[in-house]
Amino acid sequence: MASQKFVKDLKRTHYCGNINNSLVGQKVILMGWVNTRRDHGSLVFIDLRDREGLVQVVIDPKLEQNTSAKDLRSEYVIALEGIVRARPDGMINNKIKTGHVEVEVSRCEILSESAVPPFQIDDAQVNEMLRLKYRYLDLRSPVLQKSLMLRHQVLQLVRKFLSENQFLEVETPILYKSTPEGARDYLVPSRVNPGTFYALPQSPQTLKQLLMIGGYDRYFQIARCFRDEDLRADRQPEFSQIDIEMSFIDVEDIIKVNENLLRTIWKNIKGLEVGEIPRMTYQQAMDRYGSDKPDTRFGLEIQDLESICQNSGFKVFDDTIARGGKIRGITYPKGGSLSRAQLDKLTDMAKKAGAKGLVWIKWDQTGITSAVSKFFSNEKLQEILQKCGASLGDAALIIADDYEVMCATLNTLRLHIGRELQLTKASDFKFLWVVDFPLLEYSPDDKRWVARHHPFTSPKDDAFQDLVTQNEKNYGSMLAKAYDLVCNGYEIGGGSIRIYQNEIQQAMFKVLGMSAEETQNKFGFFLDALKYGTPPHGGIAWGLDRLVMLLCETDAIREVIAFPKTAKATCLMSDCPSEVHRDQLVEVGLKLSPQAEKHIEEMKKNQN
Ligand code: AMO
Ligand code: AMP
Repeated sequence: MASQKFVKDLKRTHYCGNINNSLVGQKVILMGWVNTRRDHGSLVFIDLRDREGLVQVVIDPKLEQNTSAKDLRSEYVIALEGIVRARPDGMINNKIKTGHVEVEVSRCEILSESAVPPFQIDDAQVNEMLRLKYRYLDLRSPVLQKSLMLRHQVLQLVRKFLSENQFLEVETPILYKSTPEGARDYLVPSRVNPGTFYALPQSPQTLKQLLMIGGYDRYFQIARCFRDEDLRADRQPEFSQIDIEMSFIDVEDIIKVNENLLRTIWKNIKGLEVGEIPRMTYQQAMDRYGSDKPDTRFGLEIQDLESICQNSGFKVFDDTIARGGKIRGITYPKGGSLSRAQLDKLTDMAKKAGAKGLVWIKWDQTGITSAVSKFFSNEKLQEILQKCGASLGDAALIIADDYEVMCATLNTLRLHIGRELQLTKASDFKFLWVVDFPLLEYSPDDKRWVARHHPFTSPKDDAFQDLVTQNEKNYGSMLAKAYDLVCNGYEIGGGSIRIYQNEIQQAMFKVLGMSAEETQNKFGFFLDALKYGTPPHGGIAWGLDRLVMLLCETDAIREVIAFPKTAKATCLMSDCPSEVHRDQLVEVGLKLSPQAEKHIEEMKKNQN
């Protein structure tokens, strides 16, 4: 029977994972979970686990105080007292950190029994859906223990660094007004004010700017953000930012503080010195890598083939050039031996990325082959290959399309090649600042200009005039004082210098197609605030989850969050979002649409 006598009597002296040679001969008291149990009849061997790791304990069940050892099962919680001893030669287990020692138990007590767990805790093969349903069991696994402890360490470092640099940690509300960061809002109905809604913050953007107006000068917050958007491997509907804002500064000041923060984190967590962080303009990043967050751990840069490919008679190329499109390519090292099926797969990948097709040129011992060889002489094909950086044994992949589609497709292909040829190591970190982003981009869906970062971002000095005079023909070429911090192909942070003049902010809302009324409703309070002595200011927000993900050398954001959501924004453990009682809806003045009612019916049917 489980009892709690032991915990009242005795207090834990050590974590299981911290038992080592220096404790040999000493008495220890441990409390933890039974990871595995091996019953040898006269002796029971248990691997006991807690958040710091495992230690082997040896129990003689014949001893009066050890009789419960016979009843132990996986995930039972036990307390024990024993003496640490060195393992005999030949019994040493170098795979675990406590593998040189074991604990000879003199007293063992069951604190809590466990139902048969649905999976073995450290089994890496278990289906992720099952692990998410029983997240509290998965949290016992070494992988999650390690990542959550590392996350804690990062948070401590960030708080210490920023506090030492005169930043104040200020909390801002979660029940707030819509803040545009490019996603949909999560809405919360107000019971007291029927028909009205709070929006959960997509980021504390306006609030941190208001703190600057309030005179707090240097702010930070570990801020929870909520965005209703399509999820990907590196995105969660709620996530955390290290949110920073500073007054009386320019781009260089922000970059400097944040580089030092980055160096502190990498030095303390990884033991690595981060040197100079290179910078690239948005345009350079797009031209060279087809992405504004390039993975610079490997080359395979994009090459312009327009001049070589002119007047070939190949309609796809000629038409592309005629309508101002681009013809660019990359090399596929060792791609000379790709099979037809492999090339077809690459073509499908290109089509999925938006291109109309893919031209490949292979170069192997038998010569040069390509689907377009009837349009180009052998010399021309070789020239194209060489321009792409390909030599004998390689292939070149070429896309002809509008600039954006060409970039997106070659980026997809480049990253694919990087993975296939294992050109990237998770333990290799390549940082990059991407600067000089466009201020605006045209949204064909909304048929209007939208802010590339957010509407509070300042134009670069020479773009102010065009903004104020609403000179639409220059909207596409206006640059912003915005910057992203990129690591290994992930955007780990982004920010900007802000507009701090009321008139400029008003002009910006106008450019974004907002009527005076809409501007007043949404941002009247903010525009008002700008009138009362606003210091020049700017800031940045780091994606904490992505940062920890990189430090943990994983590409799954769910592995660094204690209770994450699935790709469909659900929590499999608590089964949310879930239906609420109709009375609750009435209370907040809401009624479900017929479609929503139908969805609930179907959901219930599927559950039965
Ligand atoms: P931005 O929208 O670029 O900027 O967000 C900043 C950083 O937050 C991370 N991030 C995410 N992480 C996980 N899941 C998501 N769904 C998600 N969305 C964003 C990224 C990103 O770089 N207020 C501005 C910052 C500023 O201007 O100071 C903002 O939120 O790592
Ligand atoms: P088609 O003339 O459409 O049969 O295309 C001939 C070859 O060109 C095929 O290998 C297509 O995949 C490729 N292709 C078609 N459109 C494009 C494009 N926009 N960019 C690159 N290759 C293309």
